[in-house]
Amino acid sequence: MTQWRKVSPQWVVGAFGILAVLASSAFVVHVAAADDDKPWVAPEEARQVKNPIPVNPESLAAGTQLFHENCAPCHGDTGKGDGDTGKIIKKKPANFTDEKLMSLETDGSLFWKIGEGRGPMPSWKDELSDKERWQLVNYIRKLGKDAAAANPPASKDKDEKH
Ligand code: HEC
Repeated sequence: MTQWRKVSPQWVVGAFGILAVLASSAFVVHVAAADDDKPWVAPEEARQVKNPIPVNPESLAAGTQLFHENCAPCHGDTGKGDGDTGKIIKKKPANFTDEKLMSLETDGSLFWKIGEGRGPMPSWKDELSDKERWQLVNYIRKLGKDAAAANPPASKDKDEKH
């Protein structure tokens, strides 16, 4: 008799979660359609803010956990923007292994964007502390470096040596 009680609330939560994702992405796509296609640029003030959290095993471990809990569904486990939820929303989540994108961003601008959100990208400033958001910045940077290390630009290297 107790079995349905175990299963049913999970089902309800699961179904609600799916509905919530669908509803919020549909809503957000509609509302944000106007400026969603413009490049997303953080204000200069925000770009200049220095990262107070050192890159060390402790902050990276915290960032890893936060990323997998909150961001990987959209941005993907390795940060390529290919998570399961990321695939069904209209706007493609940012790819943190894109060297060009990451070279345009400062730690301050990444921190600001994580706080503000835009379109389907949620605002995290009420959900996560400043410290947690800086830890995420450190981890996002690491995802970019890991991808570059796994896939070195061999032809560019050759060109530079000659
Ligand atoms: C519901 C899907 C979703 C989730 C969850 C999500 N993001 Fe995003 N994120 C996006 C989308 C979509 C964009 C692109 C927004 C745009 O350009 O308008 C984005 C963009 C970003 C950018 C900006 C990249 C750039 O320089 O333009 C950062 C940084 C970012 N996300 C970090 C995070 C972090 C950290 C988390 C977890 C705490 C997270 N995101 C969770 C969908 C998501």
